[in-house]
Amino acid sequence: MSHRSIDSARLLVRIAELGEIGRDAEGRLVRLAASDTEKLGRDRFVAWLEDAGLDIAVDRIGNIFGIWNAAGVGEKPIMIGSHIDTVINAGIYDGCYGVLSGLEVIQTLKSQGFEPSRPIVVAAFTNEEGVRYAPDMMGSLVYSGGLDITTALKTMGTDGTVLGDELARIGYAGPHAPGFMTPHAYVELHIEQGPVLEREGVSVGAVENLQGISWQKVTIDGDANHAGTTPISMRRDAGYAAARVITFLRDRAKASNTPTVATVGCIAFEPNAINVIPSRATFTVDLRDPDEDRLKEEETALAAFLDLLSSDEKVSISVERLARFEPVKFDQAIVRRIEAAARDRGLACKRMTSGAGHDAQMIARMAPSAMIFVPSRGGISHNPKEFTADTDLVAGANILLDVICGLATGKRPE
Ligand code: GLV
Ligand code: MN
Ligand code: MN
Repeated sequence: MSHRSIDSARLLVRIAELGEIGRDAEGRLVRLAASDTEKLGRDRFVAWLEDAGLDIAVDRIGNIFGIWNAAGVGEKPIMIGSHIDTVINAGIYDGCYGVLSGLEVIQTLKSQGFEPSRPIVVAAFTNEEGVRYAPDMMGSLVYSGGLDITTALKTMGTDGTVLGDELARIGYAGPHAPGFMTPHAYVELHIEQGPVLEREGVSVGAVENLQGISWQKVTIDGDANHAGTTPISMRRDAGYAAARVITFLRDRAKASNTPTVATVGCIAFEPNAINVIPSRATFTVDLRDPDEDRLKEEETALAAFLDLLSSDEKVSISVERLARFEPVKFDQAIVRRIEAAARDRGLACKRMTSGAGHDAQMIARMAPSAMIFVPSRGGISHNPKEFTADTDLVAGANILLDVICGLATGKRPE
């Protein structure tokens, strides 16, 4: 069977070009949500949408939509999406690959005279990473009605900025109400960001579920005192108490024999001086598990440990919830379409669970959704070493093309 194909060179050049936008003085890629560097990425994306002749819409939370309205208004669109914000010192593929492939699929179909039965839309959702503003997946969460827009726009960032002000400042506080288009179906193409596909020599992941995510911020208060004169038995050491939480989480996850993962990714001590016992430790906890009951058990175990720690170390502890998302099951019919598309192209495909959070888990609240994964070399992501081979990128985008054609017509392109 002969297959239509996306323009691989155009896709790869755009991925590389977007990957150069937002480099800091040390060459690190940093495009945090609604920042100046992210504005530059947004502007480039919008210029590509214009070049492709798409209608552009921006909603109040700054989500950008490129709309191919070939079939006229009235029908719910097929939506393809992901994000173009990044973590600190990011790789170039996370999120951007899905957004640019969505644009590529639409541009390909448009230039080939394909006649979809409904509009096809590519979306770049605001603040997927959640590095600057919590929770993560915020743009798609607001879009799907899981968080009200007023609360979201008031979110204070790690740098003291307010999201709504920053969106207005960079020119991306759009007029549309979040949720203004309800997708008929939503598909997200993403690098796996884990080791499974590469290890098993499989080119395509048909993602059927996504694990639950719990983000908390823990603050431990003790007493600052002299590092040389204060006997160990007399210390209220917030730094030591934080270290005990970190080892507790790791030891527990390791001993559990389950897929539970636990990470302390941010930590700060006060006053943060070499010869002063920390009076305060503030750190984040990221807990994930594909099973909701187990995720709850992990949260309960952490709370019990914090109680014990507070009396053991004579410190006071407070906890703030930053994000909490239950595990999500994706739409089986779309998952089967992904498997069928891979089979038709002679590519090995595997059903899998997503370890990372994605906009698809939010849009799944409002529309049948699923994801396509391609391999990540060494399973590395959120790191400049993140890499996916061009052949895998192109293969994934062509699977997306097939799936979108099927959804938009019930058949493949000629
Ligand atoms: C999003 O990148 C996540 O933290 O899973
Ligand atoms: Mn991502
Ligand atoms: Mn990410």
